[in-house]
Amino acid sequence: MKAPFKFKTRMLTTVLSSALVSSALLLAPAAKAAESVEVLHWWTSGGEGAALGVLKKDLEAKGVTWKDMPVAGGAGDAAMTVLRGRVTAGNPPTSAQLLGFDLRDWQKQGVLANLNDIAAKEGWDKVIPKALQEFSKYEGNWTAVPVNVHTTNWVWINKAALDKAGGKVPTDWNGFVAMLEAFKKNGITPFAQGGQNWQEATVFEAIVLSLGTDFYKSAMIDQDPKALNSAKMVTAFDRLRVLRGYTDANFSNRDWNLATAMVIKGEAGAQMMGDWAKGEFLRANMVPGKDFVCIRFPGTQGAVTFNADQFAMFKVGDSMRNAQNLMAIAVEDPKFQSAFNVVKGSVPARTDVSDKDFDDCGKKGMKDLAEASKKGKMFGSMAHGYAAPAAVKGAVFDVVDRFFNSKDMKSSDAAAELAKAVAAAKS
Ligand code: BGC
Repeated sequence: MKAPFKFKTRMLTTVLSSALVSSALLLAPAAKAAESVEVLHWWTSGGEGAALGVLKKDLEAKGVTWKDMPVAGGAGDAAMTVLRGRVTAGNPPTSAQLLGFDLRDWQKQGVLANLNDIAAKEGWDKVIPKALQEFSKYEGNWTAVPVNVHTTNWVWINKAALDKAGGKVPTDWNGFVAMLEAFKKNGITPFAQGGQNWQEATVFEAIVLSLGTDFYKSAMIDQDPKALNSAKMVTAFDRLRVLRGYTDANFSNRDWNLATAMVIKGEAGAQMMGDWAKGEFLRANMVPGKDFVCIRFPGTQGAVTFNADQFAMFKVGDSMRNAQNLMAIAVEDPKFQSAFNVVKGSVPARTDVSDKDFDDCGKKGMKDLAEASKKGKMFGSMAHGYAAPAAVKGAVFDVVDRFFNSKDMKSSDAAAELAKAVAAAKS
C-alpha cells in the first residue's frame, strides 16, 4: 500500500521503526469505519440482549460502531426518564427505542430528524404496515424506523406442567382457571407475575380484550367513560383479582424476565406476557410445542393488542446523518428483520418478510397479526404505549396497580375510579 505523501514525509523525518509504520498502515482502512451511533434502549434481559446483539453485529459489519446506552426496566419507563434528562440537557442520543405515544411526544417537540429521503429510496411506504407508519411518521414525515411488532395477549405455559395438569390447552376463561387450579394441585405456582404496574396492566388489557373487541376499543382506545365504568369493566377487575389469587407471595416488584424464568424452570405453570417472553425461552434452549406452549389469552383468539419498538433518530447534527441513515436502512433490511425478530420473539415490521425461519410461535404470531389486521381486530396496547398518551396510560396503571395490590378494593369502585382517573388525565 502506498503511503500518502504527507505521511511519507513525516515518516522520513520521524524515527519510527518499520514495524510501527506497517501497523499504522494496516490501521488505515479501519479508520474509514468512523461512523458510530449511541442508542438508548431498555433491552437488558437475556433474550433482549441476544436480539440486540444481532443488531449490533449487523451495524458493525456495515462500519457503524455501536455505543450502548442501556437503561434497565421493562417496558421502558425508566428509559424515558433518562431520555428526557438527556434531551433537556441538550445532549440527545443518536437514536432511542420508543413506543407509539412517547414517539409522538418527541415528534411534536420537533427534536427528531427527517428520514423522508431514505424512506422514499427504500420504499418503506409500501412495506411497513399503516398501523406502524401512523406512529413512525408525523405530519407526513418519517422520523423513526420500526424494528418489530410485538403482540401482548399471549400466555406462556410450561409444557411439562401442562401435561401434568391434564394437557388441555384452555380456550376460555373457565378452562384457564381450571388449568391454574390444576397447577396448584400439583404444587407449583399457577401464575408467574411481577408486581410492576406495566406487568399488571399487560394482564389487565388482555382480560379487557377477552371481554370483546368492541369493549377493548371503546374502553382502551376511545377511553369512553361509559365503557370504563361499566358492568364489563367490573368483570375485568373481578377476573384480575382471580388471577392475583394464583400468584406466589413474592410477586411484588419482580422483573418480568424473572417471572418468565419461573415458568422456564417449571416452578410456575404460566405467565401472561408479550412475546418478548419467547426470547427468554429460546435463550434457555427451550423449544415451542415441546418444552413450552404459546397460546393467545383465552377469549382473545382472532384479535391482538400490539406494540412496535421504533428507533427514532434525534437531530444531532449533519455529521451524524450518515450513521443515522445507515442504521435506519439496516433496521428495515428484510434479512435483518427476519434474523432479529426470530431471536427477539416479535414479528417483522414489514409485510414482505417470509416466516420460513420462524418457529411455531413466531409463525402463529405473524399469521394472527395479519388476520387480525385484515379483520380490524388489531388494537394498540395500552400497557405498551400504543393506545393512549403517557398521562392516560399512567392513570390506568395507577388504578390497576392499586387494585392488584389491595385485597379489598371493590371491582365496582375500581371501575368508577378508572373512569375518573382517565378523565382527569385527559383534561
Ligand atoms: C418492548 C419490548 C421489551 C419489553 C420488556 C416492551 O414495551 O416493546 O421490546 O422487550 O417491553 O422490556
